Amino acid sequence: MRDLLKKRILFFGGKGGVGKTTCASAMALAAAKQGKRVLLVSTDPAHSTSDIFERPFSKEETEIYPGLVGIEVDADYEARRYIDTVKEQIARLFSPSILKEAQRQIELVSTMPGVEEVALFDRMGELMVTRIDVYDLVIFDTAPTGHTMRLLRMPELMSSWIEALSKRRRSLISFGQNIDKVGSDPDPILTTLERRKEKLEQVRARLMQHNFTGFVLVLVPERLPIEESARAAETLQDANVNVCGILVNRVLPENLQGEFYQARRQQEQKYRDEIQRRFAKYPVEWILQFETDVYGLKNLERLSEMLAGPNDGAPLR
Ligand SMILES: Nc1ncnc2c1ncn2[C@@H]1O[C@H](COP(=O)(O)OP(=O)(O)OP(=O)(O)O)[C@@H](O)[C@H]1O
Ligand SMILES: [Mg+2]
Repeated sequence: MRDLLKKRILFFGGKGGVGKTTCASAMALAAAKQGKRVLLVSTDPAHSTSDIFERPFSKEETEIYPGLVGIEVDADYEARRYIDTVKEQIARLFSPSILKEAQRQIELVSTMPGVEEVALFDRMGELMVTRIDVYDLVIFDTAPTGHTMRLLRMPELMSSWIEALSKRRRSLISFGQNIDKVGSDPDPILTTLERRKEKLEQVRARLMQHNFTGFVLVLVPERLPIEESARAAETLQDANVNVCGILVNRVLPENLQGEFYQARRQQEQKYRDEIQRRFAKYPVEWILQFETDVYGLKNLERLSEMLAGPNDGAPLR
């Protein structure tokens, strides 16, 4: 797992409740302890990084530990900011005669479902492209799998959307329709669309740059998380995103007694074997179930040592 710390961008994903935030936080702490400058970004609307570190995070970059800076991205705020930027751009492009109507349309669009997702992706992309010059490592703690998979498809979806808009704009220009500022050369709307497309391409390239960006799948040794992670690994691979590690969290310790424990452990062994078989091509790491839930620096430090310490990838026995 120490190899994970050689990446510049890491995503932590997986089924709800398996320990994504816990593992992303412990990994961020491990990297900071090695002297790296780390940015930990929480993108899950139900933020819990503040709770785990017992330090307040905010939508701005805030230092939470020496070398470790955190942000909790606020989707509502980002959506608002996104809409305001679009409105500003429109204000520069249109004449006052149609500006009001254009802005009214945009306000309407801003209530459409999906806008928050686009804005969130925009913000993540911005962090991936611009903050990487400031930090050695940027870690994204993501929302449960489905949401994240949609986010990763965003560059593709948005590119086709922008493509369609540009096409329409070009045909309007060629028909010389009565649209404000048509004919100014270069056309400002086309230029804006082109610029957006370039930015998306940059983010997409980053996502697919295997030695730069990696996706860590967190799961627990149980049926549903195994299935969901296998599907996610496949989707990521199809999208040409590097799956750089499988973290199997909450593995039972071996020194416990009792029938209940033996039964759990037996079932777990079956799933552990299955995980080794099904995820054979990925580095797999096993993280013990703690006696208590994991929050506070002390617990996180313990977990970060498990993650960053020497490990030959063998399952715990
Ligand atoms: N190894 C562990 N031992 C004991 N408790 C753990 C361990 N890993 C995680 N937990 C606990 O499990 C709970 C869920 O963890 P966490 O919030 O990291 O999951 P998540 O995948 O981020 O959840 P969500 O999908 O809601 O974002 C927390 O209470 C956490 O303290
Ligand atoms: Mg979480």
